[in-house]
Order: sequence, then C-alpha cells, then structure tokens
Amino acid sequence: MSTQSLPKIPRPPTKDMLAITPLGGGDIDNVFALTADMKRNKAAYRRVLDGKRLAMLFEKESLRTRFTFDLGMQDLGGSAVFLEHRHARLGSRESIPDIARNLERWVDGIVARVYKHRHVEDLAQNAKIPVINGLSDLMHPCQALADFFTLHEKWGSVKGRLVAYVGDGNNTCHSLIQVAARLGAHINVCTPEGYEPNSRILNESMVVARETGSEIRILESADEGVVGADAVYTDVWASMGQEGEIEERAAVFHDYQVDEDLMGKAKTDALFMHCLPAHRGSEVTTAVMDSPASVVFDIAENRLHVQKALMAMLLCER
Ligand code: CP
Ligand code: NVA
Repeated sequence: MSTQSLPKIPRPPTKDMLAITPLGGGDIDNVFALTADMKRNKAAYRRVLDGKRLAMLFEKESLRTRFTFDLGMQDLGGSAVFLEHRHARLGSRESIPDIARNLERWVDGIVARVYKHRHVEDLAQNAKIPVINGLSDLMHPCQALADFFTLHEKWGSVKGRLVAYVGDGNNTCHSLIQVAARLGAHINVCTPEGYEPNSRILNESMVVARETGSEIRILESADEGVVGADAVYTDVWASMGQEGEIEERAAVFHDYQVDEDLMGKAKTDALFMHCLPAHRGSEVTTAVMDSPASVVFDIAENRLHVQKALMAMLLCER
C-alpha cells in the first residue's frame, strides 16, 4: 500500500451539484484551483476516489457529459455504471424517490441528465449520496463551470470581462449567468422577445451581481450585444426535448447566427464559445467554428477536468 498522502480536496458547501446557486465566488475559485492542479498533475489524484462508484442516469443523448464523467471516475480510481432511460422516462417504471433509495445502497454518487429539473431535485432529496446535474431543462452547471474555467485559463481572471451570449435563454444560458454573476464577469444575453432567460434565475443572479460588480444585460439585438465582448457564446436554437419546435425556432432565431460579420463586431481578439453539439449553418457558421478564435474543443476537454474536481469534492471521504 502506498504511503503517499492524498492531495487535499476542498469541501463544497453543498451535498449536491444541481445548479450553481449554492456556490459562492470563493467556491468556484476552489473548483478552478483543483481543476488546474488535476489537469497539471493527473497522477497525484489517481487514488482519490479509490473504489467509489457513480451511477449515470440519462434520459437524453450525450457525448461529452457521458464520456467525461465515466473517464473522470476511472482517472480518480473509481468506476461508473450507465443506465439508459431514453426509452422510459425516469419515474415511469418506479418512483424517483424509490430509484434514489435503491441507488444509494450500491453507489457513492449519481449523475443525472433529465427533462424536468424537479427530477434531479427529487433524486437529491431522497438520496443520502451526492447528485450531480448532467443537464436539465433549467440548468447545465458542469458546462458553465467548464466554460468559465476555460476563460480563466486563457485570461488569468474573468472579472470585468464581457461574455455575449447570443441565442436561446436556455439551460446553458442560465448556468452561464449564475457563474458570471459570482465571478464578477459581465454577460450580455442577446435573445428574441419571448425567449429570454428565466426571470427567477435572472433576479437571483442580479442580487449576487450587485455584490461582485458583475453586469447582466438582456438585449434583443445581437449586433448591439456583442460590441466590446471578450467572448461570444452560442448554443442550439432548439434544445433536447424541443424537437417539435425546430422549424419555428429556426425562423425566430434567423438573425442570431454567429457568423464572421457578428464576430467582427466584438473585440478583435474575442473568443468563440459553444457547449456543443453545434449545428453548423444554424446558430454558428463553419467559418467561425473552425476559426482560430474558437475554443469549443478546449471547453470540451475541460469538461473532464472540471467534473473530476467536482466529483472529488463531492464524493471524497471526509
Ligand atoms: N455539452 C454537452 O453537454 O454535450 P453532450 O450533450 O454531448 O453531453
Ligand atoms: N441547450 C442544449 C445543450 C446541449 C448540451 C440542450 O439542452 O439540448
């Protein structure tokens, strides 16, 4: 048995990671510091979750989230079991509280990708083990942490920097607003009328933003919103579960495509961001996706490192 001591893992202020809401700026700094160290020094962390097991419940498709949670557990000495729920929605065969009460007897943590945000909350309330939101209709917290970690890597600090989010006021947008507010970054959300972010999340974030100096603006014009931006972010116009609205949304979001012309209105060295999967020719052009400004695959890589830090913080023995 190795006598080498395990690296120190900071404690999170919450049992679960359902949303950014319970985290303060200092907690996010802790996640970023641990992420950076794990990325630099992978071998030091290979026993941190020795023998721990993660259940992965997915109601929706995934490439990045599924791979990075599974590989992340392996990197930390643990393992993951994937449960496909795409053909029977969570709770239809067995109640969500009962699923939680079963899983907690076998595994040390759950990552869930669900349609209804309430369902990750139900899992968390009924399980003694940590539950991580791998995307719900309302939030995509692991994504936004990887997004801002990538900016933190590129710029050193994100405080006072402006991210212009162009497109649907969706789950990704909500989590980006929450992280920006906590880190003192500014965010312009450029979105058509009727597709604005959830007002409760916006109001909660505005309160946090007043403390950190972050400015959150909602604009209808993408041309206006990207002026002075250090990064331009977009996501799909129709999220998973909104397949029936694809045509209607394509018409509504027609003027919100991130192309070279729009990128030209941001700062000259502005970065392009996307959570992926991207629909080239819809919300973003191939020219922008493949341009030197694009950091989309850096973000995808960082999903792994950020989630390793989160899992270590949430699942580690105390
Ligand atoms: N960005 C993201 O969550 O990707 P997947 O849907 O492939 O997991
Ligand atoms: N908003 C998108 C993000 C995909 C990673 C969706 O929910 O489908």
